[in-house]
Amino acid sequence: MRFLIVGDIIGNPGRRALKKFLSTEGKSLNYDFLIVNGENAAGGFGITKKVYQTLKDLGVDVITTGNHVWDKKETFSFIGETKDLLRPANFPEGVPGLGWNIFDRKGLKIAVINLMGLTFMNPYLENPFLTFDRIYEEIKPRVDIVVVDFHAEATSEKQAFGLYAKGRAQIVFGTHTHVPTADERIIDGETAYITDVGMSGVRDTVIGMNFKESISLYLTGIKKKFHVPDKGDTVFNALVVDIDENSLKPVKVERIQKFYPWEELRGLSV
Ligand SMILES: [Fe+2]
Ligand SMILES: [Fe+2]
Repeated sequence: MRFLIVGDIIGNPGRRALKKFLSTEGKSLNYDFLIVNGENAAGGFGITKKVYQTLKDLGVDVITTGNHVWDKKETFSFIGETKDLLRPANFPEGVPGLGWNIFDRKGLKIAVINLMGLTFMNPYLENPFLTFDRIYEEIKPRVDIVVVDFHAEATSEKQAFGLYAKGRAQIVFGTHTHVPTADERIIDGETAYITDVGMSGVRDTVIGMNFKESISLYLTGIKKKFHVPDKGDTVFNALVVDIDENSLKPVKVERIQKFYPWEELRGLSV
C-alpha cells in the first residue's frame, strides 16, 4: 500500500504544482492513497468549498488542515458535510467537522487522524498526545493502518509525538512550517516519520507569502496582511510511504522535491 503525502498547498501556485506533479511524475508512482494538507489551499488562508472540490477532482483522498482551517468563513458551513476534509481532532467537542475518519482501500481500513501541536500555537486545544491516545483506543480494534498529520510549529513537539506514537501509528508526518525537514525515517521498523513534509508553493517567498511583505514586518514591526504571489517558480514537496500489506509495517519512506518553473505551470487551470 503506497501513500503519497503532500504538505501544505499554498494558494493557486501550490495547487498548480500539485496538478502538474500528479499528471507527470506522480502517475508513475502508482500510489494507492493520497493525502494533502489543505489549510492554505485557498489564497494562502483556509479552504473554500470550490478549492476542496478542486483537490477532490485531482484525486485527493483526504485533506487535512491545521490552524488556518477556519480562515474562510464558509468552511464552517460545509466542513460538516464532508467525510474527507479533516480539522485537528483536538479542537474541543462541538467544533464542526471531523478530526479523524476511517477509509477503505484495497481491503484495508485506514484511519487518518489530524492533530495540532500546542507549542507556540492555539492554547485552547486539548493535549494532542492524549487526544491521540483516546482516538487510538477507540479505533484500534477496527483499523489496519493509522496515519497522523501532526500539524505543529515546534520540531521538538513533532519529534516527541513521532516517538510517542511509534508502533501505534504506521505513519506520522508533520506539517505547518512549510519548510521540509531531512529526517524522514522508519522508527524501529514501526513508524514512518518526518518532522515536516514542506509546502507546495512559490519558492522565493517566505513560507509561501510575498517576501517583500514579510521583510516589511521585520523592518517595521507592523503586521499587515500577507499575500500569495499570483505566479512564480514553484517548489513541490511530498513524501512516499510504503506499508507492507501483510505485516502492516512501513517498509519505505522517501522524500520528493520538484521544482517547476512558472512557464510549466502557466497554462494549468485549478
Ligand atoms: Fe500551513
Ligand atoms: Fe499551519
